[in-house]
Amino acid sequence: MGATAVVTEMVAAAGLSRRSVKSHKLLRFHPEEKPIGVQLFGKRPEDFERAAELVSNLGFDFIDINAGCPVKKVVNSGSGSALLRDIPKLTAVLRAVVSHTHLPVTVKIRVGWSPQEPVPDSFPALLADEGAAAVAVHGRYRSDMFSGEVRKLEIERIVRNSPVPIIANGDSRSVNDALDLLDSTGAAGLMLGRGSLGNPWIFRGLSTGKPEDASPLPGEIVSVIWKQYWMMSEYLPAIHLHSIFRGQLLNYIRSFRGAAELRGRAVGVDCREDLADILTELEELLSAERQRNL
Ligand SMILES: Cc1cc2nc3c(=O)[nH]c(=O)nc-3n(C[C@H](O)[C@H](O)[C@H](O)COP(=O)(O)O)c2cc1C
Repeated sequence: MGATAVVTEMVAAAGLSRRSVKSHKLLRFHPEEKPIGVQLFGKRPEDFERAAELVSNLGFDFIDINAGCPVKKVVNSGSGSALLRDIPKLTAVLRAVVSHTHLPVTVKIRVGWSPQEPVPDSFPALLADEGAAAVAVHGRYRSDMFSGEVRKLEIERIVRNSPVPIIANGDSRSVNDALDLLDSTGAAGLMLGRGSLGNPWIFRGLSTGKPEDASPLPGEIVSVIWKQYWMMSEYLPAIHLHSIFRGQLLNYIRSFRGAAELRGRAVGVDCREDLADILTELEELLSAERQRNL
């Protein structure tokens, strides 16, 4: 849809380093998912050394280090955003990865642990000195978790102090939100998460610069949902496919007349025939909505 690059979900460096099958499965990607980065999380530099060696020859284009995850279990183990409070550990991890790969290395951070503990002004230069090629910043503190307004001023402060490109992230639900985040922070790029769920066209709107390119016709919406279904079916065991796909499907069924009722049916989809019925109805409802809005 025009995204410049994509990144895997976070994969445990410790898991890869002890060759866990579960962690290895998270490294699979589709040939169309390019350029692609692999995100590693953990805290022990030795784990990152082995993980970096292992992922470097699998076709990834860069390695990203997670220093932003706010989840309790991750933070309590000293990983994710806990690394924001332990700069020596974070730089040791970064050094371990940079010295064990030929790929560019990036870091994903938050703007700090809490309003009382923002990342210091010297932080981006420190990461750059250790070899970070770029830094992605989710504009929240760890203490914000996922709520409250994105702190654009804090991202802008990091941009101002950074010798390497900063990628701004947080709450871009529309092309206009995303452009506003870019403008107000002066960042070099954007990273989108939740705003692309059920709306992959947001990347198209951003890459062409035309917000209307992020509003596809009903037929295209349905054909992209089918494509996503077939792609997921290549990767998921048949018994899990429908229950996992339902979560994705629900993201597409919102903000039109009849959506609530159709969502009620979509939560029960458990075979391809059910999905076909739902998508036929989705296309009809979207077409009716379009007529009303013309
Ligand atoms: C369900 C879920 C899973 C996430 N998993 C990761 C992850 O594995 N690695 C990561 O760096 N960020 C992860 N994030 C955070 C997003 O990358 C992003 O920073 C955050 O959601 C804010 O951006 P958004 O408003 O565009 O979604 C996750 C977020 C959600 C909601």
